[in-house]
Amino acid sequence: MTKIISSYKTIASPGRGILAIDESNATCGKRLASIGLDNTETNRQGLVPLPGSNNESWCQGLDGLASRSTEYYKQGARFAKWRTVVSIPCGPSALAVKEAAWGLARYAAISQDNGLVPIVEPEILLDGDHPIERTLEVAEKVWSEVFFYLAENNVVLEGILLKPSMASPETIAKYTLTMLKRRVPPAVPGIMFLSGGQSEVEATLNLNAMNQAPNPWHVSFSYARALQNTVLKTWQGRPENTEAAQKSLLVRAKANSLAQLGKYSA
Ligand code: 13P
Repeated sequence: MTKIISSYKTIASPGRGILAIDESNATCGKRLASIGLDNTETNRQGLVPLPGSNNESWCQGLDGLASRSTEYYKQGARFAKWRTVVSIPCGPSALAVKEAAWGLARYAAISQDNGLVPIVEPEILLDGDHPIERTLEVAEKVWSEVFFYLAENNVVLEGILLKPSMASPETIAKYTLTMLKRRVPPAVPGIMFLSGGQSEVEATLNLNAMNQAPNPWHVSFSYARALQNTVLKTWQGRPENTEAAQKSLLVRAKANSLAQLGKYSA
């Protein structure tokens, strides 16, 4: 646990967040295609269909995870992320919620056992035309199951980080934080939000809004698209654009660092 504690303290410290760049090959392909580059990787993993559900998915990869984690720790990794999705238009079925929560809990236990801080990400997809009250209801169900199975698997809550999605600025206080305060114990050190397809500035403003009020946890970012979009457009796969692309990443990183402190203004 000592190894884990020093890692999460580094991640969940003032002004810090994460650049999420761990997309599946299929998703990387879409990002590269957006700037006209090929994705030549043939080996694609990720979510697979969950038999017996309402056309829902589950996240494979628990087999052999312990030995892979040991190897990645030796190579310098200090945290890991497991993302699974819950689809509201597809139900979600009780089976899909249970499978998502159980898989996340097993992964978290295996990660901690191998010195890695597990980032726990049950992504409740924003797709669908249901009201936000329905999202709140599903999110509360999903998070309560996640914490039930984390406890059953003896996961130390002080040594995990969470990665949820967020609502828009006006509804943040009412929904996102209300839900998290109802379901996430203060023992959890950090909540690192995903950007979920919001614009870069929107994602920064939302994070800033959430850090205007006191929270029991370190509330920060683990953004992919909201940190990568301008960088990709600037880079275009051309070496002569590399420096400009790096500068654009620093602009977004600084803005989100300020938002983590609740001090960002557009
Ligand atoms: P976005 O920030 O693009 O939503 O992605 C974050 C992520 O890692 C999703 O798994």
